[in-house]
Amino acid sequence: MLEEFGKPLVVQEVELAEPGPGEVLVRLVNCGVCHTDLYTASGADPSGYAPAVLGHEGAGVVERVGADVTLVAPGDHVVTLFSPQCGECVHCRSPKTNLCMAIREQQNKGYLPDGTTRLRRGAEPLRHFMGTSTFAEYTVMPQIALAKIDPEAPLEGAALFACGLSTGLGAALRTAKVEPGTTAVVFGAGMVGLGAVAGSRLAGAERIVCVDLSPERLALAEGQGATDTLVGGPDAVQQILDMTGGFGADYTFEATGNVQVMRQAVEAARMGWGLCTVAGVAGKGEYLEVIPRFLIQGRRIAGSSFGGLKGREDVPLLIDRWMAGELDVDPFISHRISLDEVNTGFALMHAQDGIRSVIAF
Ligand SMILES: NC(=O)c1ccc[n+]([C@@H]2O[C@H](COP(=O)([O-])OP(=O)(O)OC[C@H]3O[C@@H](n4cnc5c(N)ncnc54)[C@H](O)[C@@H]3O)[C@@H](O)[C@H]2O)c1
Ligand SMILES: [Zn+2]
Ligand SMILES: [Zn+2]
Repeated sequence: MLEEFGKPLVVQEVELAEPGPGEVLVRLVNCGVCHTDLYTASGADPSGYAPAVLGHEGAGVVERVGADVTLVAPGDHVVTLFSPQCGECVHCRSPKTNLCMAIREQQNKGYLPDGTTRLRRGAEPLRHFMGTSTFAEYTVMPQIALAKIDPEAPLEGAALFACGLSTGLGAALRTAKVEPGTTAVVFGAGMVGLGAVAGSRLAGAERIVCVDLSPERLALAEGQGATDTLVGGPDAVQQILDMTGGFGADYTFEATGNVQVMRQAVEAARMGWGLCTVAGVAGKGEYLEVIPRFLIQGRRIAGSSFGGLKGREDVPLLIDRWMAGELDVDPFISHRISLDEVNTGFALMHAQDGIRSVIAF
């Protein structure tokens, strides 16, 4: 529970109402601890609100369903989606975007689609977070925000597909649509960047360069298929140009959230057709500086939210590829913690100790 910005989260009992029409009660088994939770808890996010139950990288089992629920049934294993897929709105019907419009407005305000909350503490209503609120043993969510996955998939690893890992994989596979035999450069080797490295490998990229400041993280990138690694800094663009005959890469990915690095990712993309995919989230009020000539010369920039994935359709497919042995997820789970240790998870993340702490309920 986020009681007050800038203060540690508080673990306590609150009441959770039964699922309403189109809603599902999920028993959470695991949940990853992500920067977005910390960002909101710190008070840095101007659209944040408190009190609220944080958490959005959940995986669990459907316990009960409300009226009119057709997409999942009790016993189904699910991954929570902060980016839902209603299947009917103008964006869901287009193959060009995953930005479902169905419940956006209420979700951003901390409510379920009908504009109310299922969480309360005595008389006080409490808000949901990202439509998920998965730092909890149970949550009530809209059925359109649950991806039904292979029940054989370990839920601990599946939780990572709720956010960062899918974001990186999708950035390569869906947003950029990396082609076989190409060169990809990934800036940042956190959960998102490592996912983009793995996604580029799955897509058949011939050369995958990963850029990060941390040698340990670059070693993890090699484990995910990076063929070259580079310590980041002001020379990164020149180094990439030197590695690519002066041209730059067919695909670049930005997964640091730093606008200076975003600029490097644009400039490291190849003239003619280089595509820079920005997945990192910049701070409020920051701008990305781009010299227009770079665009005239054929470089393109794309943004990617949740890797451009349509969650209910695509997340189960990614999990299947994991189960088929195409992805190695274990190296991302660096710490296993209890819900009571959620603030430790924040501290570890702040210290860049490991890629993901995963809560087991
Ligand atoms: N678009 C989306 O839907 C989405 C989803 C989840 C996260 N994100 C964003 O993606 C970004 C990455 O998330 P994460 O969980 O992987 O974060 P992270 O902090 O674990 O990883 C960021 C990495 O960038 C590296 N880095 C920092 N400065 C660098 C530099 N100058 N050159 C090269 N590398 C540098 C760091 O060493 C770190 O390893 C964040 O901005 C996050 O908010 C976006
Ligand atoms: Zn996240
Ligand atoms: Zn939709």
